[in-house]
Amino acid sequence: MPQPSASLPAALSLTEINVLTPGAFVSHFGGVLEHSPQYAQAAAAQRPFASAEDIASAFGAAVQSDTPAAQLALIRAHPDLAGKAALAGELTPESASEQASAGLGQLSAEEFAEFQRLNSAYHEKFGLPYVVCVREHTKTSIFEGARSRLSNTPEQERAAALFEISRIARLRVLDLVR
Ligand code: GUN
Repeated sequence: MPQPSASLPAALSLTEINVLTPGAFVSHFGGVLEHSPQYAQAAAAQRPFASAEDIASAFGAAVQSDTPAAQLALIRAHPDLAGKAALAGELTPESASEQASAGLGQLSAEEFAEFQRLNSAYHEKFGLPYVVCVREHTKTSIFEGARSRLSNTPEQERAAALFEISRIARLRVLDLVR
């Protein structure tokens, strides 16, 4: 899998974060939710924060209180795991490093084919990409999750995807605070 083309922002202290201009806050945290910097705009207005976990909670709350249509758009903003964007080197730096950390850049030909099959089945059933917080999983549990979540109802699957997105966002926030 090609390496990330852009780098992640260097972590800042809570004191520094609490006094950033709104624009600088969005530059710093704009990648926390995939291709969705509007949530960083909402989180900026919730300052001051007492901890990195509070910042992560602000992102989670902004997503939970958004409209169902916006939540679906956020799920759909995620690239497929080991998908076309990964092969073409078009992932965000956050997604590229997450996918690499779970070993998704070193799949055997059989594993790669199985991933493509699961991704397609997923899109066909739910009209969504399979989103999982890969840093909290192993390659094996990522595969198992895809197979078992395929039997979810659409409502269960939307809730599962939003839960995983809140976990992804939390880890991305923790990386950006020192
Ligand atoms: N889990 C962590 N990052 C990602 C991502 O970019 N895409 C998907 N589908 N799941 C993820």
